[in-house]
Amino acid sequence: MAVAVEGTDRLILQLPLFHEDHQLVQEVVVVPTRLYSQDLFAPAERRLAEEFKVEKRAVEWISGRMAAKEAVRLSLKRAMPYDRAPAHNEIIILPPEGERTGPPQVAVIGGTRPVYSSLSHSGGVAAAVAAMSTPLIGVDVEFIEPKNSSFLGEVFTPGEVQELSGIISDQVRMVEVVIRFSIKEAVMKAIGTGFNLDLHQVVVTGGVIDGKIFHAVALGPEAQQAFTFGSGWSGGVFCVGHDVIHNVFGTGKSYVVASTAFIQEGG
Ligand SMILES: CC(C)(COP(=O)(O)OP(=O)(O)OC[C@H]1O[C@@H](n2cnc3c(N)ncnc32)[C@H](O)[C@@H]1OP(=O)(O)O)[C@@H](O)C(=O)NCCC(=O)NCCS
Repeated sequence: MAVAVEGTDRLILQLPLFHEDHQLVQEVVVVPTRLYSQDLFAPAERRLAEEFKVEKRAVEWISGRMAAKEAVRLSLKRAMPYDRAPAHNEIIILPPEGERTGPPQVAVIGGTRPVYSSLSHSGGVAAAVAAMSTPLIGVDVEFIEPKNSSFLGEVFTPGEVQELSGIISDQVRMVEVVIRFSIKEAVMKAIGTGFNLDLHQVVVTGGVIDGKIFHAVALGPEAQQAFTFGSGWSGGVFCVGHDVIHNVFGTGKSYVVASTAFIQEGG
């Protein structure tokens, strides 16, 4: 999958998302987790960042916002190419009112149309997506490492475990476990529940078409209910996609990046 490198401190992944008849490309911005200049942040963001007691968490939080600001800028530029893109500190990404974490709330100073974002951080990198067409988007980045059997039982249904165990290569199976977990997490962010919902409520299956791996998502009744009641959207599907990125920012580490967007039928 295409990975465009722009400078040394930002990757833009052009991630194809699939579901049967649907295919779209979502741009995922990946940045290193580090401190960024205060000037790039709005006062409300700076205030919240200063409240974190643990520095690692503050740095992750800041970096996630940095990735989200970049993703929002890309989204706005694509939708309104002739308008001035807002400066970083004019894009404000906060948790829900009164919370420390939760679905990111995007506000653009002077903006006239709503923009939505989802973000993630894992072991040295932060990733984000943004969209104007649907609030139901989710992204997840996961450092690739082997998972133990209790993780498998907690995350996957017996049917999913069986499908995964059919993968002969240990290495391919190990990565596929991380990919499917990451897709689940991305979908649970898009639904807005996070892990407050049993992970078995989002079932991820995989297959190969024309030599390309694709994944499909089915929602269990609780996920369906949380999603429909929470969002007011129905009658559609979650398109999902992923990429595996290696030696990111020269760290020598590999990560899975998974992304999803809800597409309404006929939309
Ligand atoms: C949402 C959740 C799945 C993310 O997991 P994580 O391991 O922190 O992973 P990531 O780094 O990929 O994502 C974190 C980001 O997700 C976003 N997020 C948090 N809760 C969210 C929700 N309910 N819906 C959508 N996005 C959410 C936030 O932007 C957060 O980053 P920030 O706090 O820096 O702003 C997890 O925080 C969660 O479910 N929390 C609910 C509490 C819970 O049950 N925890 C038990 C863990 S087993």
